[in-house]
Amino acid sequence: MKVAIIGQGYVGLTISAFAGEFFDVVGFDNNQRIVDQLNSGISHIEGVESSLLQSWIKVGRYQASMKGEDIADAEIVVIAVPTPLSLDRKPDLTFIDAACKTIGENIKSSVLVINESTSFPGTIRNYIKPAIEKYSEGKFEHLYAISPERVDPGRGDFNQRNTPRLYAGLTPEASARTRDFYSKFCDKLIEVSSPEVAEAAKLFENTFRQVNIALVNEFAQIANALGISVYETLDAADTKPYGFMKFTPSAGVGGHCIPVDPSYLAAVAEEHGVPATFIRRANEVNLEMSKYIVNRVVADHRGDLQGKSVLVVGVAYKPNVADVRETAAELVIEHFRSQGAVVSWHDEVVGNWKGESSAPLHGADITVVVTKHDSVDEKKILASAPYVFDTTGKVNGAKGL
Ligand SMILES: NC(=O)c1ccc[n+]([C@@H]2O[C@H](COP(=O)([O-])OP(=O)(O)OC[C@H]3O[C@@H](n4cnc5c(N)ncnc54)[C@H](O)[C@@H]3O)[C@@H](O)[C@H]2O)c1
Repeated sequence: MKVAIIGQGYVGLTISAFAGEFFDVVGFDNNQRIVDQLNSGISHIEGVESSLLQSWIKVGRYQASMKGEDIADAEIVVIAVPTPLSLDRKPDLTFIDAACKTIGENIKSSVLVINESTSFPGTIRNYIKPAIEKYSEGKFEHLYAISPERVDPGRGDFNQRNTPRLYAGLTPEASARTRDFYSKFCDKLIEVSSPEVAEAAKLFENTFRQVNIALVNEFAQIANALGISVYETLDAADTKPYGFMKFTPSAGVGGHCIPVDPSYLAAVAEEHGVPATFIRRANEVNLEMSKYIVNRVVADHRGDLQGKSVLVVGVAYKPNVADVRETAAELVIEHFRSQGAVVSWHDEVVGNWKGESSAPLHGADITVVVTKHDSVDEKKILASAPYVFDTTGKVNGAKGL
């Protein structure tokens, strides 16, 4: 059976790698560089081994493509394209629309279309289905389902196989075929009563993380004002065996999910007349953390950072990945620069970012740790400047939240 996966990024390539064991996979992407790289057997995503990709390519089980005709005879099409926010922080479904166009214009028979991209409840029913029908001029009656992706790139303990997967089809047949597809490479499948429940569950999962991170970020500020350790207090609270889940403070949230998905939920809530004030405020608290951190460093330097060299350690949005989307480091750097500091950054996992390269880990006046990759030596961080401020809680001996 041939499966077309539209979008070969974090989600799409990860699915391709697992599906390659059971299906002929066409990884469709509109980025020529990614397609060429994948066809030469090189993975650009942490957690997807190039050797695995090469093994599927060798036996003809995987091919990346930009050509619509290569997906024409697929029997299942999975959508895994970005769902960002527009400039006014509203859901932006233009990538989904483009994927629907690709499907509508190229698929030559009735297929099962599964959406894995994160979006608001009603996306598969009211947006994707009508869009594909429009682009295919109603030629085929496709089946439609949603199975939101829960992959956490860079994570070793949970993967496609052992992460329970939610799903729901628009029809019982769509649900049954979706179950058949994922059951090949996922051990636990949970059917919910409607696609809207699956879509909403995904948004709520990430909103839960967003508001708890905001809460602990606010608490870090309270603990500092009270002169107590936020980490010791959290560890103390975490001794309660029930009713408490530990989150740790940080410079803010990043990636494609936590800073974005809650705004999808807020937007749909507001459209239905429910003011999502709590979700909106949590987003603001997380965004304000970067300023709070810079203000703490400024206060420790008698209010003046003019001309000081600041080295930001870790610009990826989380440890051990090269992903810089929505990274809190960006705001931290911006605020330091607005204080007149001369800012560089060190992150050899990221390497190059925004036209700048990773700087050496030494010789700064001030070092601020935003993300601590496992590969970065704690002692080297401490030796990199006379003043080191750690926002991760992982560098013993540094100042911190
Ligand atoms: N990254 C995560 O950890 C994660 C986890 C769960 C869910 N999601 C969701 O999954 C979706 C995809 O996210 P991602 O992280 O894989 O994004 P990504 O940016 O890593 O990958 C998306 C890929 O889609 C390609 N693309 C864009 N438009 C296209 C089109 N019209 N046709 C073909 N290819 C196209 C891009 O070139 C890119 O390679 C989003 O909705 C995201 O919210 C992401």
